Amino acid sequence: MHKQFWLVLGVLLTAGAVTATAAPDPGALKVASLRTNHKATPMGIDGQAPCLAWTLTASARGARQRAYRIQVAESPEAFAEGENLVWDSGKVNTDQSAHHAYDGPALEPRTRYYWRVRVWDGDDRPSAWSAASWWEMGLLEPADWTAQWIEPDWTKDASEPLPSPMLRSEFSVDGTVASARLYVTSHGLYEMHLNGQRVGDQVFSPGWTSYDHRLQYQTYDVTDLLASGPNAIGARLGDGWYRGYIGFQGQHDYYGDTLALLAQLHVTYEDGRTAVVVRTDDGWRAATGAIQMSDIYMGETYDARQERTGWTQTGYDAADWSGVRTAPHDMDRLLAQTAPPVRRIQEIKPKEVIVTPEGDTVLDMGQNMVGWMRMRVEGEAGTQVTLRHAEVLDKEGNFYTANLRAADQTTRYTLDGEGEEVYAPHFTFQGFRYVKVSGYPGEVEPEDFTGVVIHSDMRPTGHFQSSHARLNQLQHNTVWGQKGNFLDVPTDCPQRDERLGWTGDIQVFARTANFNMDTVNFLKKWLRDLEADQLPSGSVPHVVPNVLGENSAGAAGWADASVVVPWAMYQAYGNKQILETQYESMRAWVEFLRERAAMDSTTYLWENNFTFGDWLAYNTDRSDYPGATTSKDLIRNAYFARSADLLARTARALGRMDDAERYQKLFENVRAAFQREFVTPRGRVTSDTQTSYVLALSFDLLPGDQRATAARRLAQDVRERGHLTTGFLGTPDLTHVLADHGYRDEAFDLLVREEYPSWLYPVTRGATTIWERWNGIRPDSTFQDPGMNSFNHYAYGAIGEWLYTEVAGLQAAAPGYSEIRVAPHPGDTLTHARALLDTNYGRLASSWTRRDGQFRLTVTIPPNTQATVRLPGAARTPVTESGTPLDAAEGLSAVRTDGEDRVLNAGSGTYTFEYAVDRPAVSSGEAPGPDATVGELLAHPETRQVLRDAMPEVVASPWLSQAMGFSLERLPRIVPVEVGEETLQSVRRQVQRLGR
Ligand code: BGC
Repeated sequence: MHKQFWLVLGVLLTAGAVTATAAPDPGALKVASLRTNHKATPMGIDGQAPCLAWTLTASARGARQRAYRIQVAESPEAFAEGENLVWDSGKVNTDQSAHHAYDGPALEPRTRYYWRVRVWDGDDRPSAWSAASWWEMGLLEPADWTAQWIEPDWTKDASEPLPSPMLRSEFSVDGTVASARLYVTSHGLYEMHLNGQRVGDQVFSPGWTSYDHRLQYQTYDVTDLLASGPNAIGARLGDGWYRGYIGFQGQHDYYGDTLALLAQLHVTYEDGRTAVVVRTDDGWRAATGAIQMSDIYMGETYDARQERTGWTQTGYDAADWSGVRTAPHDMDRLLAQTAPPVRRIQEIKPKEVIVTPEGDTVLDMGQNMVGWMRMRVEGEAGTQVTLRHAEVLDKEGNFYTANLRAADQTTRYTLDGEGEEVYAPHFTFQGFRYVKVSGYPGEVEPEDFTGVVIHSDMRPTGHFQSSHARLNQLQHNTVWGQKGNFLDVPTDCPQRDERLGWTGDIQVFARTANFNMDTVNFLKKWLRDLEADQLPSGSVPHVVPNVLGENSAGAAGWADASVVVPWAMYQAYGNKQILETQYESMRAWVEFLRERAAMDSTTYLWENNFTFGDWLAYNTDRSDYPGATTSKDLIRNAYFARSADLLARTARALGRMDDAERYQKLFENVRAAFQREFVTPRGRVTSDTQTSYVLALSFDLLPGDQRATAARRLAQDVRERGHLTTGFLGTPDLTHVLADHGYRDEAFDLLVREEYPSWLYPVTRGATTIWERWNGIRPDSTFQDPGMNSFNHYAYGAIGEWLYTEVAGLQAAAPGYSEIRVAPHPGDTLTHARALLDTNYGRLASSWTRRDGQFRLTVTIPPNTQATVRLPGAARTPVTESGTPLDAAEGLSAVRTDGEDRVLNAGSGTYTFEYAVDRPAVSSGEAPGPDATVGELLAHPETRQVLRDAMPEVVASPWLSQAMGFSLERLPRIVPVEVGEETLQSVRRQVQRLGR
């Protein structure tokens, strides 16, 4: 195409001052997805500086952005006209494409803003303008709310769960509606209805926050639900976290004993008029109906005979309803929802119906899942069906609920007897694999039951697989542990009377979580609650939101989540704003530590707070080795040093140089005190446990000359025992420390060990999620102490991060992956590993295969980043890239050798390296049959190839990790990619042939 043409087009498209120095080049950069606050097109946001980001695509290797320009307008037409722009950033020279704060005039409430961006590449060639995207502001100030809080006008004894209140009103719409927005929040949970239809697809709204300080409201586009003329609106309220049972001491009414609603509906008519057509006020009516009881832990009791048919439609007779009263609840705590909403994510059909030795009829869902059952039933009015939920069967095969403690996890449904009835609960969720069905009229058939999986709707971003079927199942279990425990708050477990935001658990799991899914908005929200619930002393509660009281705070490794989690997010997403926002909270925790330590004999040793220690570490009944107990004082001070160190680095990243120096000094002093107190002159770390060495080495607490000694002792302990002995705090960095100090074989041995204690032992026992304990089910098939034995606890899933960073080799060399290191480490037991991560810049991937003495590594580097790629064992062998000798390959530079490896720099693009390796051949074994799990099929080279050829989109999807434990037939319900029945059948046939 003629250059002149592009120049003219460029001028037309820029529609304003063109600062381009060259014409757009069709082969150059293209702007792909635009995101505001890490979302595609968010509606109802607050804050005056939305964070704008985009990704780029390019056909050529080594693509870089050199500059960008953003324009913002109130209508997309304004771009074409080049007038009435709200903001034009002008051309800004930077390679940053991920985090740009809007910096224009103040944003108005309830206004939609459109934006677009263009970029310039490394040769200063401009891209075309992106398609326009948008964000929409919500209500920004308390004064934007004209609705009043309302509560049902009745007083009930709230000493036990109460029927769920329903609130309703009618209103009129005076013309044709161009757009309508409903803003809602509540005390307790709510479900909104308009004219007989449910509003939105979120569940568990308004979510769980530190309600006394922060209460989220939601924004719904209800344009299509309104009619010109009379309309009806209704809300159901549920006890939820606000008033239901919470915590393990039987408490309820923690935030209050009365449920309440706040809602207002804004309409813009086609003729330009605007109006608030309905708002909560004293004209609403209240009643109770079919939901007799609904509680997060306990379940739900629903009597269909009590349904109030038509209550959210116009003309309904509410004569027997009560009135409502208005309440002066604080409006200052209201804020727009930032985290992804909880939604129904997947549906699972029961694998089979079992009759247990005790005679119970039990559905086996084949997966420990979180959500609820939807049931279809037909029978006589008054028949009650009861569903009880459990995670495991006992060793006899009977239904087992002792580990749920006081959580009943039971739904009871009473039929109205009018034909087929479909029921799913409203304000409760269960953690379960097995469902005991009682009172069901007729035969219990799998097709009448559906497991509905719910969690915060985070985008899956990562996938890991390997040639090891059980490692694939481990990956599956980690991801399902995250699904089940990322339900608006990062919780310890989803089933017993706990389900709390335990800080220690996410402290150890955050890095893994950030690979598996886009957690940025989810954890950002939680960190704001952490700060809100932080005590005036700076101490951090054991659980956030804090429902355990002020005395439950300040534990090492738990409270440090205040520093470790923001830092982990900065590493994963590169967003300094997260550090900026959390800075005061991070600092307050470290200052708390400094003060507490100063109360002790020496200024830099902290000894005077309750601490959980290396929770659930390996223990035994042996008289000569009772297990691995790491001194709590050592743990406290290791974490004291760690938080001071990370705070110093944070201050440095934020350019707060005085603080950086202050906390660097503090770190050095604490480290020196640690060495004096806990390290012998010859480099033995007291307690002499794996955890003590892991913490000392990974937190950089030892002098240089003692590091090797400490690592040697750690490796020796691992070899002598043959297994890990670490608990919550020692486990995440165990394999890192071993591998980083030259004990990679020991690390791999731990990883693939299958006997107790190990990561794979639960897999051999059929686990489909991560267990709380290494031996939740003991080798003799008995259960651990039911007082603490969850089968869905993500903490030990922290090994997931090592699979991504070491086995597959995906590492951030600079925060947020603007610079990347790809350094896979093929353990001798593996012949293949592959991982992908959808970063802020696009997809990063590494896939290696070792077969017949050949090593092949395919790497994908996203545009606008650069990578160092390490080719393991390639120092002395010719290497090709996509068939070309390395030095002739395009996009690569600075090829050098480092020990046994070859190292090179690569710009964006996909590269395939191949070379001969001298490693023991590992047999792939027999190909699995068609009833194998997806993880087993991916583990074998031949069946893996069948899947890749037949369903490339599925294999490329980060959702695949969630399907590893499922059979082929169940895969389409898990990975949201269309897979036809024919494709499945053809895969089955091919796999069958290979098996023969
Ligand atoms: C929770 C944990 C938590 C711990 C405190 C347990 O009850 O389930 O995961 O971190 O208490 O040590």
